[in-house]
Amino acid sequence: MERSLAGVRALVTGAGGGIGRAIAVRLAAGGCRMSVADIRTDKNEQTAALIRQAGGEALALTVDMARRGDIDRMVAETVAAWGGLDCLVNNAGVGAAGFIEQVADGDIEHTYAVNLVGVLRATRAAAPHLKKSGRGRIVNIASVEGIRGSGLLPVYSSTKAGVIGLTRANAIELARFGVTVNALCPGPIQTDMLAPLIADPKYREKTIRGIPMRRLGVPEDVAGVVAFLASDEASFITGNTIVIDGGMTVKAL
Ligand SMILES: NC(=O)c1ccc[n+]([C@@H]2O[C@H](COP(=O)([O-])OP(=O)(O)OC[C@H]3O[C@@H](n4cnc5c(N)ncnc54)[C@H](O)[C@@H]3O)[C@@H](O)[C@H]2O)c1
Repeated sequence: MERSLAGVRALVTGAGGGIGRAIAVRLAAGGCRMSVADIRTDKNEQTAALIRQAGGEALALTVDMARRGDIDRMVAETVAAWGGLDCLVNNAGVGAAGFIEQVADGDIEHTYAVNLVGVLRATRAAAPHLKKSGRGRIVNIASVEGIRGSGLLPVYSSTKAGVIGLTRANAIELARFGVTVNALCPGPIQTDMLAPLIADPKYREKTIRGIPMRRLGVPEDVAGVVAFLASDEASFITGNTIVIDGGMTVKAL
């Protein structure tokens, strides 16, 4: 693989599995020095081991994105290890399903804390370092559910819509420092988050029927776009929301 990201210092949250692991492995393959962060130490160490086995450099950090102290430590330890930070990928997220009259307070608070407040705090902690970088990048993993409506996902959808709004605000503020900020909106991607839903063959079939490309996404579909946004080729792209869903959201029927 072309090492167009050689020397780029990157931090990926939620890197212990699914989309986050694929992003971390892809950025490392491009030459990034990686900090990988996750609440699950075991899974996160596996991601770091995969990167090292492939000849890359990785620092594994156990972090709960719902805790401010953890987030500040994550950024500080990354900067101490690599001497700075060029690329932050806010990927960690949790799902929350339930119609509006059934949503529990605990679910509201936790989902907002991880999916939206965690992204905001990580961005706040990383911003001074990304500004110093001169070619800083923030990639926020939102969701198609932050754009379209889904009655079963009021909490999740509103956190992801919030991430899109935050992306636009940060893009404007940080543009003059050479920092780009973009949001990715994946459709259904085969990971642990989606597994309970697609375990039901009827739901799986219905979901695939709604996707013009007639397949579910895989984490690498997202990882490649992150690698592009992290590269010099994408230095004039900011404030965007890039949908990665095989055509799902533009399909009328
Ligand atoms: N899978 C999909 O269909 C899909 C679609 C659109 C958007 N997304 C988004 O992509 C991102 C990654 O999701 P995924 O599908 O890979 O899910 P996943 O559940 O496979 O992976 C999420 C990772 O985040 C970690 N995590 C959870 N809570 C955390 C916390 N408090 N602090 C730190 N780490 C934490 C988990 O341990 C896990 O390793 C999420 O933001 C999700 O909302 C997923």
